[in-house]
Formats: sequence, structure tokens, C-alpha cells
Amino acid sequence: MSIDLAAIGGSGLYQFPGLEHPERHSVETPFGPASGDIVCGDFHGRRIAFLARHGESHTLPPHRVNYRANLWALHHLGARRVIGVNAVGGIRDDMGPRVMVVPDQIVDYTHGRFTSFCDVEGAEVKHIDFSEPYTASLRAALLAAATRAGTPAIDGGCYGATQGPRLETRAEIIRMRRDGCDLVGMTGMPEAVLARELDIEYACLALVANFAAGCGDEEEISIEEIFAHLAAATASVPPILAELVS
Ligand code: HPA
Repeated sequence: MSIDLAAIGGSGLYQFPGLEHPERHSVETPFGPASGDIVCGDFHGRRIAFLARHGESHTLPPHRVNYRANLWALHHLGARRVIGVNAVGGIRDDMGPRVMVVPDQIVDYTHGRFTSFCDVEGAEVKHIDFSEPYTASLRAALLAAATRAGTPAIDGGCYGATQGPRLETRAEIIRMRRDGCDLVGMTGMPEAVLARELDIEYACLALVANFAAGCGDEEEISIEEIFAHLAAATASVPPILAELVS
């Protein structure tokens, strides 16, 4: 099957609106079950695949997502270009709630996740180049699509991937800022590196849901507000992807 583009939806994006002739695929993988069925359908004359990263009812926390199964299943169905849609907290001052960012770098603070397909006995050990963790041409196309859709995204930024599911302490965010992180999220890794291992073009569309701990005016981060901001930002995703495939 040929798929023009796949999207992995994060918190707030559990279904892809506007998919025509949807078909559900439950893919068996050597790594166990993916987060759920992959829904393929027609979208603006192109074939799109969609997978809800946390499951369609948001039952999988970030550290329990089977990233290997998700990427393997998408690749198996023919996806060679993937946009990861990720909810994030903003660390940089211009990355407040509802802002969209297409990051260009990653610092990985996660632990205990399977980060490679060569983590199984007998597999060939690959040391891939990851200097540029996202595919430059797909990032550029995504940024242009966001501008055409009337919802421009910030070009570049460093995504700090934390373990979750809790949010960070203020001290952790101070350290992350010192490390050069502009955004913080829980699902950007190992998704990006697994895509690279499979030679899938991959870019991240980060939706800022809140200022990270200690970065905004709020004493406490409200989960209700996170989801309200995410609902607003998520509405821009289908029009952007429509421009991307057009
Ligand atoms: N931290 C980590 N992940 C997140 C945040 C945050 O503040 N907001 C949304 N996803």
C-alpha cells in the first residue's frame, strides 16, 4: 500500500478528522502491539495514515507507549514520511500556550525505553548518524505548510524529552534551559530515533500547551488549562497537513 504521509497524534489528537474511506489496520509487530489500530484514509486526494500515540482513549502514558511497534507498524503499511504531533511545555519566552514549533534538535532525558530496533538478539547493530534528528526537507515542508494554512510555526528549537508522566520540577526546567532546551515534552524520544533507524522521514509539530514549570506566571500548572490550550492548537493540525500533502 502506498501512503503519502502518516501522522502520530499526541495528547488531544486521538482521531484524524476529514479522513475519507477510512480503513482500520491492526498490525502485528515483532515488538508487540502498537498503540492501537492505524487508520488509513483519503485526505485531499492523498493517502494518509493516522495513529493515536496514547491510544484512542488516552490509556497509554508516555513511558508505556510501544514506540517500536508504532514505527514498525507504520513502516510495514508503507509510511515513509511521518509527522509526530506532540504536546509540549514552553521554556523559551516566545513559546507560550498555543504556539506551534517545528523543533530542530533534541536532548533525551528519558530512561528505560527501548530506543533501538537492534535491541533484540541477533539483530545487526547499527550506529546511525543523529546529528540532525529531524528530516530537514520535511521540516521545511511542514513550516511552509503551516504558513500557507495561516497558522505559522516557529522554525527551530530544542526539544527536551522527559520521562513523565509527571510534569517537571522548576529546578529540572532550569537545568533544561541551561542545557539549551526550548521545549519540554514526554514523547519525542525514542520516536524520532526509531524513525531514523527505519529510514522514515520524520518531523515534529510541537503544540505548546503550557509554560513549563517556573516559566510562566502560574504557581501551578493546571491540567484543565493544558487540555484547553491543546484543543485550540490541535484544530490547526488537519489544515496544516492538508497543505503539506497538497
Ligand atoms: N512538560 C512535559 N510535557 C508536557 C508539558 C510539560 O510542561 N506540557 C505538555 N506536555
